[in-house]
Amino acid sequence: MGNNIFDIPSFKPVFSTEFGAAYLADSIQFLKQIPSDSLDLIMTSPPFALLKKKTYGNEEASNYVQWFIDNFATELFRVLKPTGSLVIDIGGTWNPKSPTRSLYHFELLLRLCSQEIGFKLAQEFYWYNSAKMPSPAQYVNIERSRVKDAVNPIWWLSKTDRPKADNRRVLTPYKSSMKKLLVKGYNDGPRPSGHKVSKVWGKNNGGAIPPNIIGYQEQLMTLYQDNLLEIANTRSKDRYLEACKRYNVKPHPARFPLLLPSFFINFLTEPGDIVFDPFGGSCVTGEAAEKLQRRWFTSEINEEYVSMSRFRFENYTLHNEHLMYGSL
Ligand SMILES: C[S@@+](CC[C@H](N)C(=O)[O-])C[C@H]1O[C@@H](n2cnc3c(N)ncnc32)[C@H](O)[C@@H]1O
Repeated sequence: MGNNIFDIPSFKPVFSTEFGAAYLADSIQFLKQIPSDSLDLIMTSPPFALLKKKTYGNEEASNYVQWFIDNFATELFRVLKPTGSLVIDIGGTWNPKSPTRSLYHFELLLRLCSQEIGFKLAQEFYWYNSAKMPSPAQYVNIERSRVKDAVNPIWWLSKTDRPKADNRRVLTPYKSSMKKLLVKGYNDGPRPSGHKVSKVWGKNNGGAIPPNIIGYQEQLMTLYQDNLLEIANTRSKDRYLEACKRYNVKPHPARFPLLLPSFFINFLTEPGDIVFDPFGGSCVTGEAAEKLQRRWFTSEINEEYVSMSRFRFENYTLHNEHLMYGSL
């Protein structure tokens, strides 16, 4: 990619910040303009195949995989650097009129990792989303035959076996029991499970290696307090929500928490690397990347979402004089 990552032919950003730019664009066309092998991370949450559609429209589960493969898969692969990663947050859904689960997100994973497309599954993650509603109400609340679905699978895909990644950038605070052990020393030798614990287990590495479940423990929600100011504090999120209130605009209905892109940006990129979100929504990926000093850009098809998302940033430059809600 050239010096200016924001020179995407035929597209002009709606606004830009110190590290990034947000475009109003259909990512099907937008992706075609991005040079090959140019991005370090694509961090995204596409519209899911939901039974109850969101206001921005969702593909049916029955068409979803083909829609994604035909329009996005090959291009997402092409634009990543060989060391790059694609992280897709993709919620599951139920089969229509049945208390059984759709397999669409697993089918998508299999197709993305087929020879036809070529991605590798670097690792699967699960995001514990306590805010999910108990649904479908018929089975969960009335028949009581299913429990609340509270996780979103996240597929971390890579172009090669060894994408750029370093878990030392996402260490979590040690639990108090581990802190005590670090002081007292480890009792090495075999455990009842047969595992041999050696002295190196007692070494202080500055934090624990996180599991592949995000947001499950309270402690994980404060993951970045040490190295990412404000992550646990809602001030910047409020800036967006306050602007929505002021303009009487409904906030984006499917925002992911700042913690989510922050985790993967930290884990899979370094400052100065390039992060892209083709389903930008309210630009949470942009906000996380800006805070972590990664270069970023997003494409989002809905003008209101892009327009309102600029209020996440304290400083931005507008490039579109006819922008909705531009009069502030
Ligand atoms: C699940 S939301 C993303 C939310 C975002 N992660 C956030 O936290 O605000 C998916 C977004 O994709 C957008 N979208 C759907 N089809 C698109 C396309 N072809 N090109 C660009 N954006 C698209 C929708 O308008 C919606 O805002």
